[in-house]
Amino acid sequence: MKYRTMGKLGIQTSAFGLGCMRFNGAASEDSVIDEEKAIRLIRQAIDGGVTYLDTAYVYLDKTSEIVLGKALRDGYRDRVNIATKMPAEFVHNREEMEALLESELKKLQTDHIDFYLMHGINREKWEYFKSIGAPEFFDDMKKAGKIRYKCFSFHGPYDEFEYILKDCDWDMVQIQYNFMDINNQAGTKGLELAGSLGIPVVIMEGMLGGRLAKAPDNVQALYDAFQVKRTPVEWAFRWLCNHPEVSVVLSGCNEAEQIAENLRIFDTVEAGIMTAEELQLIDDVRAAYISRTKIGCTGCRYCMPCPNGVDIPGVFSVWNNFSLYQIDPKTDWGMTTIRKNGSGADKCIACGACEAACPQHLSIIEGLQDAWKDIGSGAD
Ligand SMILES: NC(=O)c1ccc[n+]([C@@H]2O[C@H](COP(=O)([O-])OP(=O)(O)OC[C@H]3O[C@@H](n4cnc5c(N)ncnc54)[C@H](OP(=O)(O)O)[C@@H]3O)[C@@H](O)[C@H]2O)c1
Repeated sequence: MKYRTMGKLGIQTSAFGLGCMRFNGAASEDSVIDEEKAIRLIRQAIDGGVTYLDTAYVYLDKTSEIVLGKALRDGYRDRVNIATKMPAEFVHNREEMEALLESELKKLQTDHIDFYLMHGINREKWEYFKSIGAPEFFDDMKKAGKIRYKCFSFHGPYDEFEYILKDCDWDMVQIQYNFMDINNQAGTKGLELAGSLGIPVVIMEGMLGGRLAKAPDNVQALYDAFQVKRTPVEWAFRWLCNHPEVSVVLSGCNEAEQIAENLRIFDTVEAGIMTAEELQLIDDVRAAYISRTKIGCTGCRYCMPCPNGVDIPGVFSVWNNFSLYQIDPKTDWGMTTIRKNGSGADKCIACGACEAACPQHLSIIEGLQDAWKDIGSGAD
């Protein structure tokens, strides 16, 4: 296992951090966590050198913290840093923040949390957290020894990331980042900004939630043609760890084999090790993925609301996911929402209001028809 220094904090961490959000495929609607297996996986990772574990209050129907707490008995707690999170939805004042943190400490069977994050914030959620005094609460909990570091995880556009990052004295930030997301969310710009401020960066969705693990044919052909043979997983992690600003790459593993493979990969990865040819390969791979894009919808939502209730960006996102990453529409969360809201492309009456509003000048009506031919059965 390679270890890295966490920016201005100066502490060491394993480059591979285990994400505790996906055990037993429990990211689907009705699955139940297999506790014994999850505990085995967590201990396998720690025994292999992992010192960073990421969970959250809400993961796995609020059971992830409980399972992690059990896994960290028998001396495992002292070997690792725990990151967990406060969700804005469950707290409205200081008393509720105190109660929530206490319940997390209890579930995790520990007297302190190392990295405590405001969960999945954008500017709106950050303003909310400020309005209920969360930054002061985090500072007080640091002084009381109940948390060690004040952090946030982020999902939103770059400008909001920059605003939040500079608006508070953060100890760490967690962002979604992978070779397909260089210009999405915080992106490379956000990673480098945090790095320039000495704020350690933890990466989530480094494999785009597993999508980059299985390459489509045109991408696999590029990997196969390269002089050095590596799996898509290894390329994705190697590319992330090549960035000196990255402290930890989280990966939510479901199987012992995945943990074993990731332990092997994170034995070899270091900042700055990729050659110019390897970096070019990843650029080519990105372009090969992008060439599979069905429609260039940026999700700006200028077309919304559709007068007839079609979730236009949602439909296009499922369609692009299907083509780029071979995500079956039946299991795509976007399609679950569309199904629930009855907002599929079959509702389109071709009024054209969307096309008049689209800054990309997309042929939305035709696109919706084509999309629904490909993915519409996923809505049944
Ligand atoms: N704070 C937030 O807002 C937030 C949001 C998202 C995630 N997170 C945290 O970040 C962690 C990491 O995100 P993530 O789980 O999305 O990470 P990820 O690495 O992008 O995706 C994890 C998935 O990648 C696949 N995978 C991992 N290692 C593999 C291997 N060696 N071979 C083949 N497939 C492999 C597995 O997919 P399969 O299951 O398909 O096999 C696994 O479930 C989460 O677990 C969670 O703790 C936080």
